Amino acid sequence: MDYKKYITEVKDYPKEGISFKDITTLMEDGKAYKAAIDEMADFAKNKEVDVIVGPEARGFVVGCPISYALEVGFVPVRKAGKLPREVLRVDYGLEYGKDSLNIHVDSIKKGQKVLITDDLLATGGTIEATIKIVEELGGIVVGIAFMIELTYLDGRNKLGKYDVFTLMSY
Ligand code: PRP
Repeated sequence: MDYKKYITEVKDYPKEGISFKDITTLMEDGKAYKAAIDEMADFAKNKEVDVIVGPEARGFVVGCPISYALEVGFVPVRKAGKLPREVLRVDYGLEYGKDSLNIHVDSIKKGQKVLITDDLLATGGTIEATIKIVEELGGIVVGIAFMIELTYLDGRNKLGKYDVFTLMSY
């Protein structure tokens, strides 16, 4: 499927010089959304994934339906102040800002195989922080799946040793 035709490019959002890739128009089309999720789930289906981890918020949009398809659990990684129990926190830089990511400390057991999901690989800062938080809890990252990769930002450079899947490249 030509997924790109369902993505809307928004110039100068959220600030000048950024060409925002809006996945909501893909999500609005049930068949395109399902096909995208099915293809990402296919990538992961022989990896004996124990749990899926996705960063807020669009990592949930991708990771939760894959979790449903593979019948494995989903663990949210969230920005500061959103998770109610004890968290592990890492700070990270974004394509357009800075933040911290947090995970419940008991959400991943040592040695569990983890699939990380997100909508977009830009600078790779978010996913690098997500990998770090998973590995600090003892999880083994067996794959990372994105809908979109912005190759011109070279985020993949940070992911050399991991098995990375993307549906679309810009
Ligand atoms: C966006 C996107 C990725 C990240 C990619 O999330 O969903 O998680 O940025 O950028 P990077 O590779 O440069 O880190 P954002 O932090 O905007 O949060 P949202 O999903 O809640 O909108």
